[in-house]
Amino acid sequence: MKKEFWLEKWTSGLTPWNQQEVNEALRKWWPKIQIEQEREVFVPCCGKSIDLLYFTQMKLSVFGVDLAEQPLVEFRDEQRQNKYLNLRCEDFFKLTVTDRPFFPGRPIFVYDRASLIAFPPEMRRKYYDQMISLYPPSSTILLLTIEYDGFIEAGPPFSVPESEIRSSLESHFAIEKWEEEISANTNQRQFALGLKETKKVVYKLERK
Ligand SMILES: C[S@@+](CC[C@H](N)C(=O)[O-])C[C@H]1O[C@@H](n2cnc3c(N)ncnc32)[C@H](O)[C@@H]1O
Repeated sequence: MKKEFWLEKWTSGLTPWNQQEVNEALRKWWPKIQIEQEREVFVPCCGKSIDLLYFTQMKLSVFGVDLAEQPLVEFRDEQRQNKYLNLRCEDFFKLTVTDRPFFPGRPIFVYDRASLIAFPPEMRRKYYDQMISLYPPSSTILLLTIEYDGFIEAGPPFSVPESEIRSSLESHFAIEKWEEEISANTNQRQFALGLKETKKVVYKLERK
């Protein structure tokens, strides 16, 4: 997806992924991860997700990046004085290990919702490379994906098979599948293409 695609989504207000309430899977699974207060949280492609506040309310410092400036400006305005919130307008693919919170190499938490699945297969290959290069050893990633039949052109959100995640990341991450749930596809465009169902999958990854 080109930058213009996302900027256009934000300027036109066509952001169906933007939830009004904290994500159900996050609320269910995050407490099962051993939380250490000193760990920082990284949220790639964060938009203006309300989930960012889930972490700041626990007094965890959150670093979110997004290509689009608009959601970050809006969110900052809405959440004035939140000292735990660090939002930067940057391209995830251009981040380096010298950027916070990857530097100086302490383990971090990563919350990946509607981020990996926002990208088509050729971009996901680079996304996996970034995960491997950026996330310090012992970092924990809560990764939420979806799967549906075929139709690569039906994304975003794209279907990301478990086999792809395992073959791309298994040598660098310990991967546990925590949950999968099939439900009606609420994406109207995909539903019209015949994709009546979608499978939501939750993984916990640990950087080796
Ligand atoms: C489907 S939205 C999900 C937003 C957020 N994770 C959430 O759950 O609400 C994908 C987001 O990725 C951002 N994005 C797309 N490409 C990006 C990139 N290369 N670097 C950083 N952000 C990007 C878009 O602007 C958009 O806000």
